[in-house]
Order: sequence, then C-alpha cells, then structure tokens
Amino acid sequence: MNSNPTHQDTPADPATGWWTRATIYQVYPRSFADSDGDGIGDLPGITARLDHLVELGVDALWLSPFYPSPQADAGYDVADYRDVDPLFGTLADADRLIAAAHSRGLRVIVDLVPNHTSSAHRWFAAALAAAPGSPERDRYVFRDGAGPDGAQPPNDWTSVFGGPAWTRVTEADGRPGQWYLHLFDTGQPDLNWDNPEVREEFLGVLRFWLDRGVDGFRVDVAHGLIKQADLADWQEPQEILSGPEIDKPRPPMWDQEGVHEIYRDWRRVLDGYPGERILVAEAWVEPAERLARYVRPDEMHQAFNFEYLLAAWTAPAQYAVITRSLEATDVVGAPTTWVLSNHDVVRHASRLGLPIGGKRPNGIGIGDPQPDAALGLRRARAATLLMLALPGSAYLYQGEELGLPEHTTMPDEARQDPTWARSGNTERGRDGCRVPIPWEADAPSYGFGPTDASWLPQPPLWAEYALDRQRDAPGSTYELYRTALRLRREHRLGEGPLEWLASGDEVLSFRNGALTVLTNFGDAAVPVPTGAELVHASAPLDADGAVGTDVTVWVRPA
Ligand code: GLC
Repeated sequence: MNSNPTHQDTPADPATGWWTRATIYQVYPRSFADSDGDGIGDLPGITARLDHLVELGVDALWLSPFYPSPQADAGYDVADYRDVDPLFGTLADADRLIAAAHSRGLRVIVDLVPNHTSSAHRWFAAALAAAPGSPERDRYVFRDGAGPDGAQPPNDWTSVFGGPAWTRVTEADGRPGQWYLHLFDTGQPDLNWDNPEVREEFLGVLRFWLDRGVDGFRVDVAHGLIKQADLADWQEPQEILSGPEIDKPRPPMWDQEGVHEIYRDWRRVLDGYPGERILVAEAWVEPAERLARYVRPDEMHQAFNFEYLLAAWTAPAQYAVITRSLEATDVVGAPTTWVLSNHDVVRHASRLGLPIGGKRPNGIGIGDPQPDAALGLRRARAATLLMLALPGSAYLYQGEELGLPEHTTMPDEARQDPTWARSGNTERGRDGCRVPIPWEADAPSYGFGPTDASWLPQPPLWAEYALDRQRDAPGSTYELYRTALRLRREHRLGEGPLEWLASGDEVLSFRNGALTVLTNFGDAAVPVPTGAELVHASAPLDADGAVGTDVTVWVRPA
C-alpha cells in the first residue's frame, strides 16, 4: 500500500535519523479515546484525537496492540497478527489512522508481540489437536512433564505474572498430556524461535505492516524469544529483568545470545523499505552495556531505557544512570532513549510520591501505602523537564502530559490485569496506570467516550486533570509539556551533546547547546546561575528567585 508520503526515501541513518532525537507518544488504545461508547477505546477514537498530539508537539505515536485477541493480557495475547480486533475497529480504520497521522507529519509505530501468541491463535489450536512431537507442537515449547506420570512441570520456571510458567494440556485421547511454556499468562504460549517456520511467519508480519505504511515496531519482550537450550531450572524469583550484574549467570529465559540474530534478520527487512522505519526493543536488560547490544548498527534502532525509569529520584542516582546510559549507547553508535512511564509501571506522578529507596510496587491499591500526590507531581514535573533536556529520544505515555496520577484506590473487583489473580492477590498489577484518560472535565467519562462507560473505573476528582481544564491554563502540566517540547525542538536538545556542570549530592546541572539545565534535589533552594535568563521551569521560582526543592529549570546562560 502507501509508503509514507511525507517522509523522504532515505535509508535509516544512525547519525541523523528522525528517531535519534524524537519524542514518541505511547497510545494505549483501550484507554485513549472511545468513539462508539462501549467503554473501550478504539482506532477511530485515536484518529479523531490526533490533533492533540500535534498540538502537544510530539514526532510519533506508538500504538499498543490492537490485533484480534481474547484480551487475556489486554491485547498482548495476539490471535491474528494481520488484522484488527473488532473491539478497536477494522483494518480500514488502521489504514485511516496511519494516513491521518502521516498527513499531520506524525510517524506511527505499532506493537509487535513475537515472544508468544494467544492461545486462541490458529497455530496453538493446531498444536493442541496434533500429537506430541508433531511439527504443529514444535512451533511452541511443548515438553513432557517430570515425575513418574509426567505430572510435574518440566522445570521450575515461574510466570512473570505469578504461578507456574507451564500448563499441562489434555491430549486428543482425553488423557493428561504434555506441558507448554508460557512466561506470561496461560493464554500466552511462548513460541519456539528455533523453528524456521516461526521466523518466516514474523518476517511476513513485518512486511504486512510495513506495506501498510507503518514507520516501525515496538518489539514486546525482545529479550525473551530464545531460551537456554536445556531449559535449566532457575531457582531465583521470576522477574522480567535480566539481572543487573554483568558477570553473574543470566536467567535461562532472558537475554540469550540467540535473540540478536533474529533482529539482524528483521533489520534487513526494514532497511529494504524507504522512509527510515525503526525497531525499538522492549528489553528489560541490565546493565546498560548488555542493553546496548540490542542497538548495534545492524540490529534495532532503539531500546527502552528501563534502568533510567527505575532509577531513584536522587542526584547521584540520576547522574549515574544518565552518564551510564549515554556511554553505553555511544559505544555502539546508537541514540540513547529516556522513559518515565508506560502501561506496565506505576505512573511517575505517583511513583515519585512514594518514599525514595523503597521497593518499586507492582500496582497500588486500597490498603496499600498511598503516594503523596502533591510531592509526586512536583517531582514528576521536575523529572520530565530533566528528561526532555537530555540528548536522545524520549518516550511519553498518554496522560502524563496531564500530570495524571495512578489510580491507587481502584476496587479490586474492577481489576483486569492477570497479575492480580495469578499472584494469588498479592500483586495489584498494572490497571492503575491504564485508566481511560480525561479530556473534558464536565463530559460523561470525562470525554473519553460519548457515554459513561469506561472499562476500568476512572477515579473521582479526575476532572481537575482533564485536558480542557489545563489547555491555556498558566502553570498547568499540559502547558509545561507543550512548552518543553517546543523548546526542545527549537534548541535541538535531542541532539546534544551534554556537558556536565554540576553533579553533586543535591544539584545536577548540565549544558545542552544554548541551554543550561539545573535540577535541585536538595532541601535548600539554590540560586539560578548568575545573569542567566530563565527559559522554562517545572515550578515557579521562590520569592527570592531561587530554584526550590524538586524543581528543574532551563536557563540561557549569561
Ligand atoms: C510486555 C508488555 C506487557 C505485557 C508483556 C507480555 O512487557 O509491555 O504489557 O504484559 O509484555 O506480552
């Protein structure tokens, strides 16, 4: 179909490519805008709201999955990679969205989920119907169970969402049979990436969406596709993170060497298309040097920087993670990326309102320690202004431009993330960051859709965050973002380079092009550099013109 008409037919250039400095806005389709009033957002809803992204000033949008799916994991369980779920619209709606975005100069990145399919995928149905050892089963990871009757799982791996990573199937003759691996929900069987048919299939899926004009793919669980061949036991608690120590054994399910060859194949496909199409890895890989291997020149273009997202809100921690991130990607010649929120973590306006140094919660609910909302928002605004001044590419998650907090008091009955049930009701999970966002203070569902329906309950007091209350309101978080994105573009902050001026225990400051950036993490206010002109600030300066605690300023030095 159409390749992107607004972009030049140049190959992706690692030095100057659009993505090296882009701001990319994550749209979570279920919760962005609902055109038909069923309480679940959809593609026509997104298309109708694209002007918001233009007004905000981002370069691209990334869409979380909208493919046919039983929605066992909010669409990250894909039953058909080449279609759109009727919940979200049709393939024609996807084409219209892509065209409408391109006509506004916005690039479009779609989500690709290669680690697992849905259990409703035709391949999995065929695997269940076929016998052990069949080619159909070989597309997934089926094994005989351990123990005399094969009644024990083949190894001790647990699912990221809790519970065992294996489920036993009933064979065609009605007897209990083999087990299949699912690192996530039971409804998400892991594919066997050693099988050439699996590889071939995904090359076809890439082409399908590239032919429809998408500008790239966000690759889900990019560090999980290849498992250690012996499927060795792993006694440690399961986490999606690969482990921070470079010299410790890596978990047998994450960050295995074999994944890189897959991305080299994909890169060749993308490079065959005009218009700078990109791959971005969702790889929970630490440390930064390991992650950088995903963005070597012949692999992906970007990888999410989760080490940055997870870093504590202190000057030393922020300094360390920023320098480490820049150094690690410099080695491979790739741009660094920055991210503070997404659909899997507690929103940063709430996360930063929790005590510093505590355990990062996987969801917050009734009865849990509640974040300090005002402190969280103040820090979130400072963190965002710091992030948007860093060279590289920044990812924003829908609603953060409104300063939206997590829904931290959602009734447990309303929860839909499989984590809550699979963890035996010990981990609240991710619903609190996925609540439909407020557009209009006084409309039903705060303007999310034409009715009151909302697949997750919107918290009371959501009205104050609505876009229409914040637009043109001096000091609002929305205007803070809009101005920051405009200045970031004008001053080419995404291009750098960054030069440190201060990296103490309380204050961080650096120079990026014509601007100096300063964040005050300390208790005492600090003066604005002498003679400097204030360009932007995450909060008003103190009465005597000093930068208060948890404030970032951008200034033009004298
Ligand atoms: C990624 C997604 C997350 C999903 C998981 C399994 O981490 O971001 O939402 O649950 O993969 O697909």
